[in-house]
Amino acid sequence: MPGRVFITRLIPEPGPSLVGAAADSLEMFPEDRSLSPDDLRNAVQGRDAVLCLLTDTIDASILEAAKGCKVFANMAVGYNNIDVVTAKRLGIMVTNTPGVLTDCTADLTWSLILGVARRVAEGDREMRAGRFMGWGPLYMLGGDVTGRTLGLIGPGRIATAVARRAVGFEMPLLYHGRRDNPELDRLGAKRVEFDALLRKSDFVSVHTPLSPETRHMISDRALSLMKPTAYLINTARGPVVDEKALVRALQSKQIAGAGLDVYEDEPAMAPGLAECETALILPHLGSATHATRAAMSRIAAENVVAILNGQAPLNPVF
Ligand code: GLV
Repeated sequence: MPGRVFITRLIPEPGPSLVGAAADSLEMFPEDRSLSPDDLRNAVQGRDAVLCLLTDTIDASILEAAKGCKVFANMAVGYNNIDVVTAKRLGIMVTNTPGVLTDCTADLTWSLILGVARRVAEGDREMRAGRFMGWGPLYMLGGDVTGRTLGLIGPGRIATAVARRAVGFEMPLLYHGRRDNPELDRLGAKRVEFDALLRKSDFVSVHTPLSPETRHMISDRALSLMKPTAYLINTARGPVVDEKALVRALQSKQIAGAGLDVYEDEPAMAPGLAECETALILPHLGSATHATRAAMSRIAAENVVAILNGQAPLNPVF
């Protein structure tokens, strides 16, 4: 049963070794960059399994070229980069890596919450530029975190882990999502309508997957409902936020700031965002720890190996 496997980009161990030990042949694109669409289309031909990344756009043309392939195992929890409708139609399974990146993404969300409110990166820029002239009663004042209300959009695993950490900061919790989340309820969180969450929260943190329904969920209208003292945090997917609308909201001080790890058109940013001092901007680091990336590599590989061995995948997305 085991077959030919392609890994689309250089990834950390143990994934390559696990797949290599199980497959008849393994080829990994040995560079830390994504293949062009044409090169990817050629590379997936004749493979039984492909281990891919969120930087690969797996559209219908790639899936058609991979016809006969059993699985595209995404080394990510989000799988909006894969056309799952076409994959399903062609009988190609899709798997992801949930669970293992929950805590480290929640930790990064907290870096953004604390960092944007207390102007951590701006302060670092002040020091490096030699602008610090000594303590001042009006110098670099920010927003409070302890006791402020945290609103979570998309109440899944990562939002829940963010909420658990918020208990230590004595924050009232709100969440918005399609269904109740019993663990958030146990933490004292209240499920509210979208508009109410925007109006009441001091921090609005986005944790929803990207789908046609969530694209530009944070729009001009949504931003206009937020308090002028509130902060927007996004560690989910860039296109959930209308980035141009966000730049306008930051420029006009409609909101106090934004902590972002993801962008609509990565690696690019909307014009003007880099000049917004009240934006704390990180380069998609949510799952970027040594241990988490190794765990993601292992799980993606285990999905490939299970399918090559004729077993059920561990993390099918449909
Ligand atoms: C990272 O963004 C992931 O979806 O794993």
